Amino acid sequence: MALPPAFLDELRARTPLHGLIGRKTRLARNGRQWKGCCPFHNEKTPSFYVYDDHFHCFGCGAHGDALTFLMRAEGASFPEAVERLAAEAGMEVPKPTPQVAAREKRARDLHGVLAAAEAAYRRRLFLPEGRAALDYLRKRGLSDETIARFGLGWSGEGRGALAAELKAEGIEPPQLVAAGLMKPRDPDRPEAGLSDMFFGRVMFPIRDRRGRTISFGGRILGDGQPKYVNGPETELFHKRQGLYGLDLAREGAFRGAALLVVEGYMDVIALHQAGFSGAVAPLGTALTAEQLELIWQLSPEPVLCFDGDAAGARAAARAADLALPLLSPERSLKLATLTGGEDPDTLLRKGGPRAFQPVLDAAKPLSAALYDLLTAGRPRQTPEQRTVLRNLLEEAARRIPDKVLSGDYRRTLLDRLFAETRRPFAPAGPRRRPWPGRGERPMGIPNPPRAPIDLPGIQLERARNLLAILLRHPLLLPEVEESLMTLDLPEGDCRALRTAMLDWLAAAETLDSAALTGHLAQCGMGNAVNWATRATGLCAAAHPAAQPKEALDGWWYFFGLLRGEAELLDDLARAERRLAETFDPDAQRQVIRLKGVLDAFRSGEFDPALDEGPVPGPKASRADTIG
Ligand code: UTP
Ligand code: MN
Repeated sequence: MALPPAFLDELRARTPLHGLIGRKTRLARNGRQWKGCCPFHNEKTPSFYVYDDHFHCFGCGAHGDALTFLMRAEGASFPEAVERLAAEAGMEVPKPTPQVAAREKRARDLHGVLAAAEAAYRRRLFLPEGRAALDYLRKRGLSDETIARFGLGWSGEGRGALAAELKAEGIEPPQLVAAGLMKPRDPDRPEAGLSDMFFGRVMFPIRDRRGRTISFGGRILGDGQPKYVNGPETELFHKRQGLYGLDLAREGAFRGAALLVVEGYMDVIALHQAGFSGAVAPLGTALTAEQLELIWQLSPEPVLCFDGDAAGARAAARAADLALPLLSPERSLKLATLTGGEDPDTLLRKGGPRAFQPVLDAAKPLSAALYDLLTAGRPRQTPEQRTVLRNLLEEAARRIPDKVLSGDYRRTLLDRLFAETRRPFAPAGPRRRPWPGRGERPMGIPNPPRAPIDLPGIQLERARNLLAILLRHPLLLPEVEESLMTLDLPEGDCRALRTAMLDWLAAAETLDSAALTGHLAQCGMGNAVNWATRATGLCAAAHPAAQPKEALDGWWYFFGLLRGEAELLDDLARAERRLAETFDPDAQRQVIRLKGVLDAFRSGEFDPALDEGPVPGPKASRADTIG
């Protein structure tokens, strides 16, 4: 949408910026401008300034105008931000070309038709003809508030009743066809007339992300086939590109709810009613790549929840397969599976609103779920069988485009295969053993017998590696500064090096390794630097030639080892709160990073007791010894 610059300028001029931003964060006058705590990062002393035409944060560098603010603060797209501001300013968004204008008018008309149909269906639900449908919904546990919230209705018995009713509002049958509410009785014989798409069904409005109805699903009362019918593809409705519940889940996700993808409409409704306000479902087809993209716009790590039946298991495998080539360090998933033929709706009906939380808590990171999906039911007794498995796992990891992530998946998957098969009598399938304090350990790494280990010595080596990475790659300092400060490092050289590095960072012009070590030598810390960077036992990430990404991954690896699970959980809770409050990309990165560290920690990769001998580098792979 190419809009005339003059229009945008006037739009900005007519929007009182401090009023708009003042809805998100408290602002106080400060001379000619306004000042407050930055809504995009977590701060206690205000460093966020609002001028008449732009805002700027001296803490995190966030900067922009009214449109950028709406886009960043509420996840609005540019056209949405323009439309919202225009509506508030009482301005019309100009239509650039007659064709576009015509298409938008048609769309507006279609929205009107669908809204009128929805109102008719909703009205009918509360008339005597809708009585059985209303009873049905109430018997399924829906409150009247929920019924209203989702706009549920009753189609009536068909035979053109809807067309007759809407004619009074000036809506003609061809418009009902365009809206997907009627269809030619016989496509080859137009003279046969039109018939209703929906009759004898409970109506579920399907809405777009902004809450406008774009089609309907209809469910038969009780048993019968087909159980659900959905509207056909229309100018507004593309079933592979929308999600049921998206408008409400978008709101829920912004308030911090977990984004949940489930299979059925009734599951979405039951979950929202039980307070899980981030639930969505595909629209009568298997989950598509477009739908995953929509979901990732709202959450970096949505939870896909599949029914506890054979179809659910197949759908989970298909979803994992679909996601692999789309994954990135910022976009992942978790998989939750129900058991015993339940779906979220039946589970909530039986167990009450809290019954679903354990399912959510037990959701597995994709890497773990993938392992289970790929290896389930496959034998692994002989070297040949294990090679088949290994190839399967490697092939899956290779489908991830991000090289580092792909390598990490490969290592995680193969490590687990190795752990499960290195003892010839280990039973197939994931072994479970208690994990202190946190229920069951999600992945079964058998515990090898071992000699007592020198934990303080190991911690010192870890701290040395962590510091060496920073000495060689001081560019990482700003990103890890906060986490570095919170670490409980061994006393002596480690702490002194940390303090000196952070002091240097505060004043440094360029973040360069030679400059840093030169400065430390001047401060009399040359020996400490030499100790920290001594080659023996140093990981690859601390090598000067390591790529920044590799160095960063290595840093977080040692951070996880040093920090420990309880503290990681606290860190994660804090970062998640910050993300929920500010939707700050930095907080989002931190959440993903900490979840990765925690998952690796719980998977046993970080079990300090598993470390024997020299400290492995983050890229060390035990997988090469399989078979
Ligand atoms: P389910 O049969 O699992 O739906 O199908 P559900 O929501 O649990 O149904 P009930 O009301 O509780 O019995 C999952 C989804 O698959 C689509 C619908 O979108 C449904 O919500 N579906 C199912 C169809 O499109 N057509 C069908 O005939 C059945
Ligand atoms: Mn169901």
